[in-house]
Amino acid sequence: MVAQVIDGKAFAAKVRAQVADQVAKLKEENGITPGLAVVLVGEDPASQVYVRSKGKMTVEVGMNSYEHKLDVDTSEEDLLALIDKLNNDPAVHGILVQLPLPKHLNEDLVINSIDPAKDVDGFHISNVGLLGTGQKSMVPCTPLGCLMMLRDHHGSLSGMDAVVIGRSNIVGKPMAQLLLGDSCTVTIAHSRTKDLPDVVRRADIVVAAVGRPEMVPGDWIKEGATVIDVGINRIERDGKNKLVGDVDYASAAERAGAITPVPGGVGPMTIACLLANTLTAACRSNGLPEPEGLTA
Ligand code: GUN
Repeated sequence: MVAQVIDGKAFAAKVRAQVADQVAKLKEENGITPGLAVVLVGEDPASQVYVRSKGKMTVEVGMNSYEHKLDVDTSEEDLLALIDKLNNDPAVHGILVQLPLPKHLNEDLVINSIDPAKDVDGFHISNVGLLGTGQKSMVPCTPLGCLMMLRDHHGSLSGMDAVVIGRSNIVGKPMAQLLLGDSCTVTIAHSRTKDLPDVVRRADIVVAAVGRPEMVPGDWIKEGATVIDVGINRIERDGKNKLVGDVDYASAAERAGAITPVPGGVGPMTIACLLANTLTAACRSNGLPEPEGLTA
């Protein structure tokens, strides 16, 4: 079988267009412009690239973007004071604190100081608990993007065997919760899993989120399975820098029914879902119906 390529870049553009349409409607009918505040502490080059890209796309869909760039040695007290200000600012519907934070700042404390209703990353302990108990929450952007692509490809996921490789709080665990919410039979595999190849071979859906370049070879993939590759790993091959996923794309594409490429798969969906979450937060905070097709 030669896999269908799931084009995340095109899908993300479609999601952003949907967000832009609904933002325009929200402005016209309700006089509300959703606002996203992004907080960056320090000058990590990768984080600076992400934050710039988030700001640009926020404006492109018609939302307000508020960027707060703080010095690398900003105190916890000052950072918490800024978050408190943003929590109380009615023009701000979403707050994202770019991770990782410098070592002297307590990441859990900082994340849990964000108003859960504005926590567009879905990292606040309240949102984690709400998702885990099947209640309405803010859902982490990368797993939400994966879920949207899976639903788009399959329609219903009910009864499918899904394996999530990786148990991070940002991707693996929430991804498993979302798949369970869509009635998959879910296995979370990780570095200590016994006979990982065998576990993966049983799966109709494989979500790889471990951050290890090409660790899943094609012969682990069940014929016709759907493969969602969350990994973005920079490697050097033939003297050139290259981005590869956690799955060996060439061999997996020969067995899978559908597969996301790297780059151009899950990556673009993350920011699209951040914008979707900001719109959702703006609707909820104003007692308006949620945007259709953009939530879990
Ligand atoms: N750093 C890398 N990815 C993310 C993300 O999705 N959210 C935040 N807040 N920081 C990140």
